[in-house]
Amino acid sequence: MGRAVAVVCPKGGVGKTTVTVNLASALADMGFHCLLIGVDPQCGLLSSFGRDRFAVDYGLLDFFDPEGDPARVVQSSTMPNLDFITSNVWSREEEAELIERAGAEPERLAASLADYRGHYDFLFLDCPPNMGPLTAAALRAADAYLVPMQAEELAYHALPRLFDAVDELARGGAPMPELMGIVLNQVDERTRLASNVIERVRDDYGEQVFQTMIPRTVRLAEVAQRGLPVNLFNRSGAGARAFAALAEEILAAPARPAERLEREAALAGSAGASFGTSETRVAAPFAVEAAARDGADRDEADRFGGEPVISLDEIDESGAGAGPRSLPSLDDYDGVGDEDRYH
Ligand SMILES: Nc1ncnc2c1ncn2[C@@H]1O[C@H](COP(=O)(O)OP(=O)(O)O)[C@@H](O)[C@H]1O
Ligand SMILES: [Mg+2]
Repeated sequence: MGRAVAVVCPKGGVGKTTVTVNLASALADMGFHCLLIGVDPQCGLLSSFGRDRFAVDYGLLDFFDPEGDPARVVQSSTMPNLDFITSNVWSREEEAELIERAGAEPERLAASLADYRGHYDFLFLDCPPNMGPLTAAALRAADAYLVPMQAEELAYHALPRLFDAVDELARGGAPMPELMGIVLNQVDERTRLASNVIERVRDDYGEQVFQTMIPRTVRLAEVAQRGLPVNLFNRSGAGARAFAALAEEILAAPARPAERLEREAALAGSAGASFGTSETRVAAPFAVEAAARDGADRDEADRFGGEPVISLDEIDESGAGAGPRSLPSLDDYDGVGDEDRYH
């Protein structure tokens, strides 16, 4: 039975999409079947697989729309073992509709994803940068949630807000997932500020913080621009190695509590979207039994050479400083005529 993980943080730009894409890619590389779900209407994860989001017709909205076609939402990526579902909303109106429907039927996503759990080992839900109805629906569908944060003061202060919001959702009666862990991203330990925040996060949250930290690197900032997860073009670099280590740490974590399994079983029994293929994959155990990938692929990936870890001065917070384009923001949307799409 696949494990659904919501990647959540109400602060934008902390690395939700980056962590979703590269962690899933590391797990897929180890032989685990992963499904990525772009719950964020801006759906940055699509560009990380070199896909044009406007060329994908089916997606998240089909789960919520009675006229939708949930059987066609799963798209294959450039990688074996890794598929995704995009948020197929392209205008402000469609986004508002998706949010409204998710708010009206908060359990719909959980029910829709239940059928996929038998086909994948991990389902990652890449959430929007807020704790609104879509994140609430994703949390409800998840067994665990993963919190990426930057080693920065503002991100540190976002954590209590996040946990308060999860508590509030739980008080509202929604079953809430367990915290899988906090992962420090965009870390440059050479700066005193970063080390200070890292120390405080570890003091405050102890074992809930992953030992593995993801460094701020040029290659990770390039993922969306290249349209490839980092392990496909810079396998031996610091970024790819960090995500492989994070994957190992997650796989080594203790098994889920019994009540979580019961809830999964209940969800699996409920009506959800029908899965578009008759192929049934057997879920791999959570102990790492890595399926060996083709060695030639690795050689090709290694061609790009080593990966420098860069300093905060060399790249700005959006990741735009070193050349890669930043992901679209709602602020970029002008809502007129033919431009009825995010840039
Ligand atoms: N470890 C990292 N090193 C370099 N750039 C990063 C790293 N993590 C994220 N980025 C960049 O920071 C920006 C925001 O990351 P993103 O994953 O889109 O955040 P979120 O999904 O939380 O809004 C992107 O441009 C991304 O390429
Ligand atoms: Mg994102």
